Amino acid sequence: MDLKKYIADIPDFPEPGVLFRDVTPLLADKDAYQESVRLLAEFGKDKNVDVIAGPEARGFLFGCPVALELGCGFVPVRKPGKLPREILSKTYELEYGHNEIQMHSDSIKPGQNVLIVDDLLATGGTVEAAVSLIEQMGGNVVGIAFLIELEALKGRDLLKGYDIYSVLKY
Ligand code: PRP
Ligand code: ADE
Repeated sequence: MDLKKYIADIPDFPEPGVLFRDVTPLLADKDAYQESVRLLAEFGKDKNVDVIAGPEARGFLFGCPVALELGCGFVPVRKPGKLPREILSKTYELEYGHNEIQMHSDSIKPGQNVLIVDDLLATGGTVEAAVSLIEQMGGNVVGIAFLIELEALKGRDLLKGYDIYSVLKY
């Protein structure tokens, strides 16, 4: 199945110079969405995954169904001010601007195997920040899976040493 058919390319969004890869047509198609989740879960299936960690918001859309498919839990990596209990926090650079992510400080137990799932790898800043929080809690990042990898932005270089998989490369 040609999943790239379901990704819309939007020039100059959200700011001039950014070619935005929009996954909403893929999400709206049951076969394309199901196939994407199947491929992401396939990558995680022999990794003894305890929990999926997914960054808000698009990471939830792929991370949660992958967690159900693998039969493991899901831990949200959130934008600031959303989590009600004690948090760990990390700031990072984005292709457009900068941001901060937060996780509940007890969301990963020491020794747990964590698979990070997100829709897209650009600079790698988001996932690098998530890795740092997960490792601070004593988690093992056993893999990182994306639907889309924007190779020109070299996010892989920031995530050297980790087992990375992407379904679609641009
Ligand atoms: C997007 C995307 C990834 C991140 C990738 O999220 O969903 O999480 O950017 O960029 P990076 O590799 O340069 O860090 P965004 O922060 O735009 O939030 P959203 O999912 O809420 O739209
Ligand atoms: N997140 C960061 N860069 C992006 C892009 N080019 N398209 C969609 N999401 C993104």
